[in-house]
Amino acid sequence: MRVLITGGAGYLGTHTLLQVLAAGHEVCVFDNLSNSSPEGMERVKALSNRTFEFRNTDLRDRESLIERTKDFAPDAVIHFAGLKAVGESVEKPLEYYENNVQGTINLLYAMEAANCQNIVFSSSATVYGDPDFLPITEDHPLRSTNPYGRSKLHIEEMLRDLAASKPEFTAAILRYFNPVGAHKSGQIGEDPMGIPNNLMPMIAQVAVGRREVVKVFGNDYDTPDGTGVRDYIHVNDLARAHVAALDWTQDHKGARAFNLGVGQGVSVLEMIEAFAKASGRDIPFEIAARRAGDIASCYADPTRARAELGWSAELGLDEMCASSWNWQDSNPRGYEPDA
Ligand code: NAD
Ligand code: WQD
Repeated sequence: MRVLITGGAGYLGTHTLLQVLAAGHEVCVFDNLSNSSPEGMERVKALSNRTFEFRNTDLRDRESLIERTKDFAPDAVIHFAGLKAVGESVEKPLEYYENNVQGTINLLYAMEAANCQNIVFSSSATVYGDPDFLPITEDHPLRSTNPYGRSKLHIEEMLRDLAASKPEFTAAILRYFNPVGAHKSGQIGEDPMGIPNNLMPMIAQVAVGRREVVKVFGNDYDTPDGTGVRDYIHVNDLARAHVAALDWTQDHKGARAFNLGVGQGVSVLEMIEAFAKASGRDIPFEIAARRAGDIASCYADPTRARAELGWSAELGLDEMCASSWNWQDSNPRGYEPDA
């Protein structure tokens, strides 16, 4: 298959790119490198021993997107490109709607121009908001409390509307829970710019000595140890689900959502403890105030993905922490050249 990967230079994109190449597909990456470095793709080339095309393309530029998509003529698109920081989205909502929603509208026009009917879309468990019940199934009501989440909801709605209007259109909407970890080589991994927003890169940077302490955002939640509980999923399991979803698009029609999670909750303190064990490092932490907008617990019911995509997560917390540490320890400053 000819597969276009938008946002393929990013954290989830590089790991997925590697597995899509390993599955034998021809790949072209579109990315504007606004939150990634070309070095990640160079490393994927070396690891995969395969070539692929890369076009420095901004999804906001519809004309060039259409031309380049027609040039590559994909059979399917995996659409990662977008902005993803919840707090920033509250400060800069228009940037989020422009990159995520308008960028996706442009992409859908480009796919139409290139006669491509299949998309695998990066959605998020954030579309469930503060859950009514756990574990969360795909039928749980959809809602969101911030512009980032609403951008994902709008895109999901657009995909469902488009599928209703075009019988030949297929969208696998993948709702990721909390992706963490890195490729086992330690060559590619999560490399956030500035202060990490997410727990795992924060723990990893404290472990490697780049930051002093992990702030635990609240220990008075209604959870077993009082700290937030999430469904962490290994990035390689997540990447593998995309290969399964690509296959799924080949013999299904319509828009369908799938939860990608392990199905088990892990608390902040459990994560810190598991990382300390995997790295052999002390992880200093202190209890801080709750973070605005956080919820107590969130974990998936991944039954549908198992039944319909034939996919389930295989890697556990120890592998998530060990691979994340291997990446951070080998690349203390991420992809920076003087690392
Ligand atoms: P990332 O920032 O590492 O990757 C996104 C990539 O998209 C980057 O390489 C960035 O340069 C590119 N990009 C952004 N705007 C673009 C534009 N207008 N045109 C072209 N390229 C653009 O993020 P990630 O963690 O790999 O996430 C990938 C996708 O998965 C995102 O859509 C994100 O919302 C979604 N997601 C991520 C998580 C997570 O925890 N990492 C969870 C749920 C959903
Ligand atoms: C996990 C737990 C924090 C950092 C976010 C987005 C979501 C999705 C994934 C894209 C929570 C606690 C965190 C820290 C902490 N992204 N924490 N100290 O909030 O579940 O989800 O990323 O779609 O949309 O909202 O992930 O890693 O930020 O937090 O105590 O320095 O760790 O309070 O309980 P979250 P996270």
